[in-house]
Amino acid sequence: MRAVTLHPGQAGSQRLDDIPEPAEAQGSVLVRALAVGVCGTDRELIDGRYGEARPGAERLVLGHESLGRVIDAPRESGFATGDTVVGIVRHPDPVPCENCALGEWDMCRNGLYTERGIKQADGFCAERWRSDPGFTVKVSPALGLAAVLLEPASVLAKAWEHIERIGRRARWAPRNALVTGAGPVGLMAALMGRQRGLDVHVMDRNEDGPKPALVRALGATYHRKFPAFEPDIVVECTGSPALIVQAVGGSAPGSIVCLTGLGGSEHAASFDVAKLNQSMVLENRVVFGSVNANLHHYRAAADALAGADRAWLDALITRRVPLERWQQAYEKREGDVKTVLLLED
Ligand code: BGC
Repeated sequence: MRAVTLHPGQAGSQRLDDIPEPAEAQGSVLVRALAVGVCGTDRELIDGRYGEARPGAERLVLGHESLGRVIDAPRESGFATGDTVVGIVRHPDPVPCENCALGEWDMCRNGLYTERGIKQADGFCAERWRSDPGFTVKVSPALGLAAVLLEPASVLAKAWEHIERIGRRARWAPRNALVTGAGPVGLMAALMGRQRGLDVHVMDRNEDGPKPALVRALGATYHRKFPAFEPDIVVECTGSPALIVQAVGGSAPGSIVCLTGLGGSEHAASFDVAKLNQSMVLENRVVFGSVNANLHHYRAAADALAGADRAWLDALITRRVPLERWQQAYEKREGDVKTVLLLED
């Protein structure tokens, strides 16, 4: 079967490969791939800056944002032929640590977790893949191709859940939130902020392209500069050091700043740690990081997608690339929001 693979650590080693059918050890649910979403992590893998093949293998099957249809599953698995599903990216470490033992693999403490398509486990960019029932999530077929957004949405469902848990350390009545970055992650953060009834502001450097309209369609405000007010919540989705400095320094007393961005720009930003300490202590600020998602967050994300406007979700997918032209899916083009590689015609 066809699959997009690469040699982790070797820039430009990606190719459309012919690989064996997925091993049964990968799980009892056999899935026909429909699509995979492409994100910055895939590009980092392609640039040889991130990722590891499974032990004993030289190449890694790419793809962690999946969508597929079940073609075979044991009756007791809870899945049936025809179900539309998404595979969970991270699997618990084998020790397991206290968090992984509880199903909180997103909070793995020893770093020995694996991630499909990223770290020591083959991904979903293959015509067929297998998954364990406990690491497979059913999605509503009504979502169509937009269900490929479930994985990035799950990362934001976790981030929002943690923001709210931290917020409840004291009286918590946030009015507004600032999201930095209007890529798929930022737009998901903004959607979930709006679903919580917040006055949402999104900041991005793009003047043209689909992003300003996608933000406004949510009932949120688009900014090209850090806004003049002090936000109660910041969801930072760029990883840009300069924006992180602005977010931490420009938010309200008692605010929560959640960092979700990875692989931000190389430009260093300097930080006055003494000043940061003073403002964090005297104004009860929280800055925290959030990555990945567990099963519970995938379910919360499925609810968020089900509650979103279907046309808005579809508009997020700005490029659909057939497998024959797979290389184009990994190019970054002007006006791209989410690019999806189609594995079925
Ligand atoms: C994925 C996460 C993953 C993270 C770090 C992100 O692109 O969406 O699931 O945990 O990369 O590898």
